[in-house]
Amino acid sequence: ERGGRLVVVSNRVAVPGESRAGGLAVALQATLEEFGGLWFGWSGRIDPLRSGRLREQQAGDIRYATIDLSRRDHADYYNGFANRSLWPLLHFRMDLVDYSRETYAAYRRVNALFAEKLAPLLREDDLVWVHDYHLIPLAALLRERDVRCRLGFFLHVPMPSSDLLAALPQHGRLFEGLSAYDLVGFQTTRDLERFQDYVRLFGRGNVIAPGVLETAGGRRLRAGAFPISIDTALIARQAREAIDKASVRRLRDSLSGRALAIGVDRLDYSKGLPERFRAYERYLQRHPEQRGKLTYLQIAPVSRGDVAEYRALRQELEQLAGHVNGGHAEPDWTPMRYVNRNFAHPTLTGFYRLARVGLVTPLRDGMNLVAKEFVAAQNPADPGVLVLSSFAGAARELDRALLVNPYDLDGVADAIASAMRMRHGERVERWRAMMDTLLAHDIAAWRRDYLAALAEA
Ligand code: G6P
Repeated sequence: ERGGRLVVVSNRVAVPGESRAGGLAVALQATLEEFGGLWFGWSGRIDPLRSGRLREQQAGDIRYATIDLSRRDHADYYNGFANRSLWPLLHFRMDLVDYSRETYAAYRRVNALFAEKLAPLLREDDLVWVHDYHLIPLAALLRERDVRCRLGFFLHVPMPSSDLLAALPQHGRLFEGLSAYDLVGFQTTRDLERFQDYVRLFGRGNVIAPGVLETAGGRRLRAGAFPISIDTALIARQAREAIDKASVRRLRDSLSGRALAIGVDRLDYSKGLPERFRAYERYLQRHPEQRGKLTYLQIAPVSRGDVAEYRALRQELEQLAGHVNGGHAEPDWTPMRYVNRNFAHPTLTGFYRLARVGLVTPLRDGMNLVAKEFVAAQNPADPGVLVLSSFAGAARELDRALLVNPYDLDGVADAIASAMRMRHGERVERWRAMMDTLLAHDIAAWRRDYLAALAEA
C-alpha cells in the first residue's frame, strides 16, 4: 500500500540510550519501530567549532542520522527563533515573543543545513515526514536541491489565530514555506481552520475547499487534522505491571492511605503550572472537609533551561510550592510534592495508576499525551478521574474528563474536590468512554491515517 521507505525528520531525535520528556519523541519512536526507516535530526550535542558533523547509527530496523549544532546555532536557532519566537507565538503568548532578524537568519541557516545533509540520504520513493515548528522551511529547501519525493509536515503544537500569526515579522515568508509540502497535518480541526483562515486572510495561496489549498504558483496541497495518540494497549499493560515495581510501591506506601493527585509536565509556561499550584491551594482553602485526604505530586523535569522565561518559571514554581506547603502542611502531612527529575516511562504509568486524580491543565497545548496516558494507565475496576484543560487538544476526544478552564482557579479547585467525591459508578462510566476512544484511536491509527493521506496527496 504505502511503498517507499519512511524517513522521519525532527529537531529532537530519541537517540538510543537517552530518555527524554516530551510526547513527540515517544510517538515517533513508536512509528519507526513499526515501519523501520531513517530518523534524521539534531544529535542533541553541541560542537564547539561548527554545525553539521553527521553521526550515524543503526538500532534494529531504525537508522539514526543526526547532526551536531554549533554553540551559536544552538543559541540562535533552537533557544532563539524556535523557542523564544515560534514556541510562545504558537501557544498564544505574544507577550513572551522575542524576535530578532539575527535569530530568524539562524533558523533559516540551520534548516538549510538540515536540507544539505539530508538530501544525499534520500531516495526517490521515500516518504519524508517532517515534524514540528523547528522545521517549517525544510521542504522548500529540499525542493531547491531537487528532492522529488513526497514530503509531509505535521505540527505538534497549536496553530493560533491568524491575527497572532501575522504579528510575527517575516510571517509571510515563513508560513508560505508550508506550501512546499504535499500534506500539512494539524492536531485538531480547530488548528486546521485557523490555518486556513490565515491562508485566506494573509497568505498568497487559496483555500479551494476544506483541506485543499492552492499555492500562489498554482500547486495543490492537502491539509488535515490528525490527532496524535498513544499506544493504548501497551500503556495499559505497562501500568498493570509497573504497579509491582519498587519505585511505585514506595510511592504508594509513602501516602499512608491518602489519595494521590498527579501532574507530569515538562517545566514549560504553556503547561499552566503556577495556575495549577494556586488552584490546588484554592482547593485546600475551599474544601476544608477534604483536608489531609489528598497529596499532590507534581513531576516537572526541567526543559529548555537556557531560556530566560523557563528559568524565571522555575523560580516562581519553587516559591509557590514552598508557599503552599508552608501555609497548609501538618507535622505528618505535606500537601504537595514537587520533583524536577524525570522518571522512566513505565514507572510513570505506575504512578498514574495509583492516582485518584490526574491534573492536566495547560493554558494551551497541541494535544497533551499525558492526559491520554493517564486514562490508559487506570485500573478498570477502580479508575481515577482526569481533570483536563479545555485548551488542550486532547479535550476534543477526552470530553468525559472533568473539563476546566485553567485560568479559573475556583473552577479547578472545585473539579479536584468533585474528583475526590465522585462515586465509583460515575468514575467507571467516564473512564470507559474515554478508554474506548483511545483504544479505537491509538498511535497506530494516527500514523496509518497520516501516511495514507500523504501517499495519496
Ligand atoms: C514539545 C514539542 C516537541 C519537543 C518537545 C520537547 O512536545 O512539540 O517538538 O521535542 O516539546 O522539547 P525539546 O525542546 O526538549 O525538544
